[in-house]
Amino acid sequence: MIAAATDTSAVTNEWAMAEVIKHPHVLKKIQEELDTVVGSNRMVVESDLTHLNYLRCIVREIFRMHPAGPFLIPHESIEATTINGYYIPKKTRVFINTYALGRNTKIWDNVGEFRPERHLSADGSRVEISHGADFKILPFSAGKRKCPGAPLGVTLVLMALARLFHCFDWSPPVGLKAEDIDTSEVYGMTMPKAKPLIAVAKPRLAARLYQ
Ligand code: HEM
Repeated sequence: MIAAATDTSAVTNEWAMAEVIKHPHVLKKIQEELDTVVGSNRMVVESDLTHLNYLRCIVREIFRMHPAGPFLIPHESIEATTINGYYIPKKTRVFINTYALGRNTKIWDNVGEFRPERHLSADGSRVEISHGADFKILPFSAGKRKCPGAPLGVTLVLMALARLFHCFDWSPPVGLKAEDIDTSEVYGMTMPKAKPLIAVAKPRLAARLYQ
């Protein structure tokens, strides 16, 4: 429970910070959204999260490009079955490649491009993140063994990112250009950045709000 909850959320947050700082126009856009929804006289609270549609797009885009669990958790079939014409014998070890799902060129265009806007719905409705039946991305898997902590995980990630982007301006360390931020990954049970993100934070709200 502790490993499934902490590592996944931390990895997702670090990827989101890295991609947003690497794309300053995205940082500007999310800060505009935060300033409109929250303003500059208080901190973000949980009830704001439902109104931060662009931030929700950022998190969905991070799950598409950098899923915390690139192969979910291996499962074994208890009975033989046929799915979409594929025969799967009893006791087959099944790996679901969510990394490939998020980069499937039949579903997504310019798969290597970080573009949160691609998730905005045409009618402006709320962008869903942990919807189990949406097989375009599967950050929490689906079905009976789906992540039971998905709603909490989404809230934790949204809340941390909302506060970090609302409270601070972010830039790469002196001498490093934003576009040169390294986004190579390491494969493991989760898929963290190969090199930890180093960034400079500058407060953007009134000093009393940080006390
Ligand atoms: C961004 C955050 C999170 C992500 C991306 C994530 C993702 C996942 C994934 C992909 C699985 C494997 C599903 C499968 O078996 O195919 C899983 C399982 C699990 N997660 Fe999460 N998770 C997150 C947060 C959390 C939180 C906050 C908790 C608990 C408070 C949690 C508890 C669990 C548990 C207990 C399992 C094992 C379920 C089982 O085997 O039946 N997760 N998670």
